[in-house]
Amino acid sequence: MWIKQSKLFTVVSVALWVLMAGNTMATDSAGKAIDIDDSTFNCMRDMTKVRGFYVDNLKGNLEGTLAVANSPEGGKYPEGSLVQLVPGEVMVKHGEGFSPATKDWEFFELDVSAEGSKIRKRGFVDVVNRFGGNCFGCHIQAKPQWDLVCETGHGCDPIPLTKDILALLQKTDPRCDNNEPLNANEIKKLTALKQALSAKP
Ligand code: HEC
Repeated sequence: MWIKQSKLFTVVSVALWVLMAGNTMATDSAGKAIDIDDSTFNCMRDMTKVRGFYVDNLKGNLEGTLAVANSPEGGKYPEGSLVQLVPGEVMVKHGEGFSPATKDWEFFELDVSAEGSKIRKRGFVDVVNRFGGNCFGCHIQAKPQWDLVCETGHGCDPIPLTKDILALLQKTDPRCDNNEPLNANEIKKLTALKQALSAKP
């Protein structure tokens, strides 16, 4: 009788342990952070261009990222998605549930040079770029189906950079080793932009 009871106890506790371990594993894999450091970010033109911006996927799921980026209905970007418009600003998607407020996106501001990238700021709802704008404050204005990706017409406050200037910033990403020389007109535009930016308080 005692033996039977203890056997039953063993069976039940093993069953419980298996169930709990299963549950813990499920919670662990949901909402996981992706390891990100300076070396994560490289020449943005090595990524895949979608309309005006570039995407990649740090979990090897570029196909999943592209499927959402190219969908006319929008959708939820998969874990690992990395999105860039200009060399110094990036959004990366962590595991589902990691940061519900930002739909699991983390915002990065980088210092980029020929030596590579240095993360200047990173975080979720509180990253303010060097021009005083809160990344999340603008990007959360995108209509829900766009998953915080602003582009044009998704509902975000606009940025004061023309398509021409954006293209020029992409073309001159200092981390790329295949930058082509600029023509006189491009140099003029870039110089004017630098002057305008350094005139900011
Ligand atoms: C004033 C509002 C505003 C602020 C502040 C802002 N963004 Fe954006 N961001 C935009 C808009 C609008 C676009 C789309 C521009 C376009 O495609 O013409 C954009 C584009 C992007 C893109 C390309 C994908 C997309 O959403 O279209 C990334 C990545 C990005 N921003 C990251 C950041 C990060 C990181 C910060 C903070 C360090 C930041 N942004 C701050 C408004 C903002």
